[in-house]
Amino acid sequence: MPKPTINEETCIGCGSCESVCPAVFKMIDGKAKVIDDADFDASQECIKESIEACPVDAINAE
Ligand code: F3S
Repeated sequence: MPKPTINEETCIGCGSCESVCPAVFKMIDGKAKVIDDADFDASQECIKESIEACPVDAINAE
C-alpha cells in the first residue's frame, strides 16, 4: 500500500485518523501527519478505516 497523504488545507484536526490508526497517523500542532517509516502494508486495514473516518476526506492513499 502506498504512503497515504494528508491534505493539510482540508484537515480540521479532528484526530480520528490517529485514534483509528496510531501506527501511521500522528497529530502535530493540530494537523495530522503521516509517520514516514510506518509499515503501510501492515497497517492497510486501519489506513482504509481512517480514510472512511475522516469527516473532511483529507486522507488519500491512491
Ligand atoms: Fe485531519 Fe481527517 Fe485526520 S480531519 S486529523 S486527517 S481524520
